[in-house]
Amino acid sequence: MAKRILAGKRVVLTGASSGIGWYLASELVRAGAMVVVTARRDERLQALRRSFGNPQKRLIAVPGDITQATHRQRLIETTVGELGGIDIIINNAGIGAIGSFEDATPERLRRVFEVNFFAAAELTRLALPYLRRGDQPAVCVVNSVLGHRAVPGKSEYCAAKFALRGWAEALRVELRPNGIDVLSISPSTTRSEFFGSLIDTAGTIVRRPNFLSQSPESVAHSIFRALKGRKREMILSPGGKALVWLSQLAPQLMDRLLLRYGMPAAC
Ligand SMILES: NC(=O)c1ccc[n+]([C@@H]2O[C@H](COP(=O)([O-])OP(=O)(O)OC[C@H]3O[C@@H](n4cnc5c(N)ncnc54)[C@H](OP(=O)(O)O)[C@@H]3O)[C@@H](O)[C@H]2O)c1
Repeated sequence: MAKRILAGKRVVLTGASSGIGWYLASELVRAGAMVVVTARRDERLQALRRSFGNPQKRLIAVPGDITQATHRQRLIETTVGELGGIDIIINNAGIGAIGSFEDATPERLRRVFEVNFFAAAELTRLALPYLRRGDQPAVCVVNSVLGHRAVPGKSEYCAAKFALRGWAEALRVELRPNGIDVLSISPSTTRSEFFGSLIDTAGTIVRRPNFLSQSPESVAHSIFRALKGRKREMILSPGGKALVWLSQLAPQLMDRLLLRYGMPAAC
């Protein structure tokens, strides 16, 4: 299978105002792609745009809340209007929450699913008619190791990422006759703004990612390479791979380890 050439590709990327999305947008633009980015914080998107001097429409910012259907429509219409079509969509925007399921509100469950799952699925639905006519088209999903092995205290986030993985797996086969690739990339704990943006911490002091965690630059680079190399499913860190492998091999042992020690720092 021929490698994907990213120069000249028309890309829609969500969640580009910080972390993984910010670095991925930068890497794609440097490779010659034309990238339409979104997130709620417009000033961040403008700063990203300015960092390139924005020659020839290579980075277009469409700020807004991805959970709003009108914003998703505007994002797709702007991309098609400005670039003439869509070749790649990258569903990266995500939020998390911490705390026991029982003590949390129904709104927490809804919000986590709205951002992490429904927004990604519905944005992709809008993009599919254009991807069908795209050049080496792809749907890319930024998932998580927690979309492979769920852990206590993050039930809503894990459930949304499991949903995303199941949806991507089905879509991969549905879209094969159209030549559209579906990539699912699962980082481990990453030193982004994610843990400062949790929508609920249930009063706990959140441990910030330590030196064992991944940098957002390296995760972005892995996603970039996965897009080029047309990978289908990738768990990025050795710790993440070990967690998933051990969970499949000995799920009850993993339950006991998680109960006793919590989530290992390197996953
Ligand atoms: N950090 C980790 O440890 C980790 C590990 C595994 C997987 N991931 C996944 O990696 C992806 C990127 O996260 P990150 O680590 O780079 O975290 P981050 O720095 O917090 O970035 C999250 C991005 O999502 C955007 N976003 C959140 N809610 C949004 C909404 N309603 N509408 C539009 N944009 C929204 C944020 O922008 P605004 O706030 O400006 O809207 C931001 O650009 C997520 O899907 C996350 O689940 C992260």
